[in-house]
Amino acid sequence: MADDPNVATYRIENGIAWVSFNRPDKRNCMSPNLNRRMGEILDEIEHRDDFGVLVLKGEGSAWSAGMDLKEYFRDTEALGLGATRKAQRESYGWWRRLRWYQKPTIAMVNGWCFGGGYGPLYACDLAIAADEAQFALSEINWGILPGGGATKVVVDLMPMRDAMYHAMTGELIDGKKAAEWRLVNESVPLADLETRVTQLANVLLEKNPVALKATKDAIRRVKEMTYDNAEDYLVRAQEAANSYDNDGRKEGIKQFIDDKTYKPGLGVYDRTKQVKG
Ligand code: COA
Repeated sequence: MADDPNVATYRIENGIAWVSFNRPDKRNCMSPNLNRRMGEILDEIEHRDDFGVLVLKGEGSAWSAGMDLKEYFRDTEALGLGATRKAQRESYGWWRRLRWYQKPTIAMVNGWCFGGGYGPLYACDLAIAADEAQFALSEINWGILPGGGATKVVVDLMPMRDAMYHAMTGELIDGKKAAEWRLVNESVPLADLETRVTQLANVLLEKNPVALKATKDAIRRVKEMTYDNAEDYLVRAQEAANSYDNDGRKEGIKQFIDDKTYKPGLGVYDRTKQVKG
């Protein structure tokens, strides 16, 4: 059967790319088709200059109900090991692309978020959930361990006891508890979710994009480094960033020290005044 291109969609508006899981009738569970389409969308739009922040959202009542138990597992397994490995490459592939995406990313978790959904959740730099959203590592309920990176996600984000409880019981937690356990940054009432995410995206849109990419990569990279390795990496990473934008930080210093038009402790410099040299 030919792929349906609409299982994942996007629209770009006011500097924000709103990318959607779009299988609401299947609670946005991830089929091989959806994973391929997400990979294509990420490739297609990454370097467009009409947006600076990507938001990953779900259409309907779900963010994502995880992997598609029929199409991703049962139907694919029936085709043999090659098909299984291909499906894994395609799903893990777009999550990895997202983890290292050029633009900052925000997961806007509007509803159900299960199992495999933790892969793209973790891949997003920031995550805001609805209080009403429901999260679970449901794998244990249908007889497998939380694979596809999900176990690593909870161990990375949560304290050990919470991660163990979450993975072993498969119990649901709501958006507020997910924020308390640090699966997401914060949760707000569903009615306010899009407004809050837009506000956060607008904060990021004011920042220097080269510095944002360097910063988000650094946060992920240094996590597994010794202090000395991190110190050295950060020097090199800043020098590499300078090769893309050598003027931003000079302008930032000038507007504070010479022009006295802003204070870095209290706000961001005006990038529109930056002259490229
Ligand atoms: N894989 C395959 N199909 C799924 C799915 C999944 N992960 N999640 C939902 N669906 C399908 C259902 O089979 C149903 O299909 P149908 O209309 O053809 O019967 C449709 O989506 C709607 O699901 P339904 O269960 O009726 O919706 P609900 O709102 O009552 O419940 C959930 C929503 C998410 C609680 C429930 O669908 C569920 O438990 N899904 C599985 C979640 C899971 O364990 N995911 C982990 C995978 S790693």
